Amino acid sequence: MSGSQALRILGCMEGDQRKPSPCERMWIWNTITNPSCSIVIFTLTLALTIVYMYLKIPSSIWIHNIVPAKKTCSLFYNPKNLERKVVASIKEFGGVGDGETSNTQAFQRAIDHLKRFGDRGGSKLIVPKGRWVTGSFNLTSNFTLYLEQGAVILGSQEPTEWPVIEALPSYGRGRERSGGRHISLLHGYKVNDLVITGRNGSIDGRGRMWWEMWWNRTLQHTRGHLLELLDSDNILIYNVTFLNSPFWTIHPVYCRDVVIKDVTILAPLHAPNTDGIDPDSSSRVCIEDCYVESGDDLVAIKSGWDQYGTKMGRPSSDIIIRRLSGTTPTCSGVGIGSEMSGGIHDVIVEDLHVWDSAAGIRVKTDRGRGGYIANITITHVVMERVKIPIRFSRGSDDHPDDNWDRKAVPVINVIVISNVVGVDIKRAPLLRGLQGTGIKGVRLTNISFKGIAPQYANWHCQYVAGCSRNVFPPPCLQLKNNLSSCT
Ligand SMILES: *[C@@H]1O[C@H](CO)[C@@H](O)[C@H](O)[C@H]1NC(C)=O
Ligand SMILES: *[C@@H]1O[C@H](CO)[C@@H](O)[C@H](O)[C@H]1NC(C)=O
Ligand SMILES: *[C@@H]1O[C@H](CO)[C@@H](O)[C@H](O)[C@H]1NC(C)=O
Ligand SMILES: *[C@@H]1O[C@H](CO)[C@@H](O)[C@H](O)[C@H]1NC(C)=O
Ligand SMILES: *[C@@H]1O[C@H](CO)[C@@H](O)[C@H](O)[C@H]1NC(C)=O
Ligand SMILES: *[C@@H]1O[C@H](CO)[C@@H](O)[C@H](O)[C@H]1NC(C)=O
Ligand SMILES: *[C@@H]1O[C@H](CO)[C@@H](O)[C@H](O)[C@H]1NC(C)=O
Ligand SMILES: *[C@@H]1O[C@H](CO)[C@@H](O)[C@H](O)[C@H]1NC(C)=O
Repeated sequence: MSGSQALRILGCMEGDQRKPSPCERMWIWNTITNPSCSIVIFTLTLALTIVYMYLKIPSSIWIHNIVPAKKTCSLFYNPKNLERKVVASIKEFGGVGDGETSNTQAFQRAIDHLKRFGDRGGSKLIVPKGRWVTGSFNLTSNFTLYLEQGAVILGSQEPTEWPVIEALPSYGRGRERSGGRHISLLHGYKVNDLVITGRNGSIDGRGRMWWEMWWNRTLQHTRGHLLELLDSDNILIYNVTFLNSPFWTIHPVYCRDVVIKDVTILAPLHAPNTDGIDPDSSSRVCIEDCYVESGDDLVAIKSGWDQYGTKMGRPSSDIIIRRLSGTTPTCSGVGIGSEMSGGIHDVIVEDLHVWDSAAGIRVKTDRGRGGYIANITITHVVMERVKIPIRFSRGSDDHPDDNWDRKAVPVINVIVISNVVGVDIKRAPLLRGLQGTGIKGVRLTNISFKGIAPQYANWHCQYVAGCSRNVFPPPCLQLKNNLSSCT
């Protein structure tokens, strides 16, 4: 039995006859380097899974997922010990959930105490119902942050409670202002096995203060994220709500094995740069069953900025985005770039639902970025009232400093989009590569955009090559070259 068959029985890609997804390929690489071992490994895995199910089901948060009846992310997160040995409430550390008292010290005390159990069975911090104001605090390994129903963590309205930390090496400076950047409200640095979950409690950044500083140009340092995980792995974010982030909401950067599932992200539709989830120079990230409504992309995949991103050379790869839905009036459902200088490859987007948005699928790059975008597969997309359903074009042409390389152009090859339905669409797609580096290998099949007025029905294509089959409105000549090979 082959690895991918084994995997299918375990449920990862059940009943799916497509070519192996990144998930399957990684499984094969990691565990079945020697094919003759596959039967042994399969039997062992099955046995372990059954044992695990029996032992863990009563209290496991995987109760609905460990037996994956449908495609699932669960293989991306491997708990070391899901049952954390030590469980404590924030109240035990002096926390007061009255919506006014600062709990910054309480959270830091709690985590300083609990991290000592990292290698002794792990720990779990419970945040009960209440409104818990706090400045930024750092998370730890083998740790669960558990938000009860009605628990709300509120971001401090005091900017110094979001201290300035150093810029990311792949950006060279803060994304919005030179120099350092404000730390995220919840921050994880080099953590391993972290879970943020509970009964759909929320983390509210109360970002208005930061948006206003952005609008009135008094912002001195780049705004902080609501949750940033830096150089971390084995992460699960599950059944929680994120509100009003000052900047990009969830930012896993230099991470591996990240699952974000059943997460709701909300911000006012005009709140600037409140992206939902931005996997950045990270691999094996699975985003599943999430709802995002905000002032920027629902999900934007990135990998560093110009010469800094190129130097770091850390791609985003093996990313799965499944059953994502939401709206963003000025931005896109799934965006790739514009920061992509470390490269982006092997991305699967399936079952995307976007409405009342500027774009459905957006690829953004600029001269100076370098890097590459490769092997992107997008399928089963529904769009309603979207202005430009598929848009590949330049970004805002912003650069970290004057030392960016004018010759560094991104290489874009193989973007496959299929089974897309759009209603009340404003314009036909716009596909524009940069001169000197066209977008190659665009394959479009079974796509229909309805409701486009005749004067907007022409596709805009430039420096793009590929093919199409069964696409409406009829695409530009560049994509009409070889119908038969477009499968
Ligand atoms: C986390 O738990 C694992 C397994 O028990 C252990 O090997 C590791 O050292 C722990 N990590 C930390 C930072 O304590
Ligand atoms: C949290 O982690 C960051 C590293 O990313 C560090 O700069 C900061 O000082 C830490 N904060 C605390 C309170 O330990
Ligand atoms: C998620 O949160 C909701 C709301 O409290 C709760 O009803 C549900 O049981 C939670 N799901 C899991 C799997 O814990
Ligand atoms: C969690 O709460 C949000 C915001 O109230 C809600 O929209 C979402 O449906 C809830 N999710 C679950 C799983 O209960
Ligand atoms: C800009 O907005 C911030 C945050 O609301 C506010 O504190 C500050 O007074 C404003 N500055 C000006 C010049 O409007
Ligand atoms: C794209 O996928 C193909 C086939 O799965 C693989 O051979 C190739 O190396 C991938 N390219 C990149 C840049 O990952
Ligand atoms: C074309 O796409 C639609 C919408 O996703 C889907 O229902 C249909 O099955 C697809 N047709 C084929 C032949 O794949
Ligand atoms: C024809 O289609 C193939 C496969 O999609 C593609 O690689 C090739 O570039 C296309 N040829 C032209 C002239 O566009």
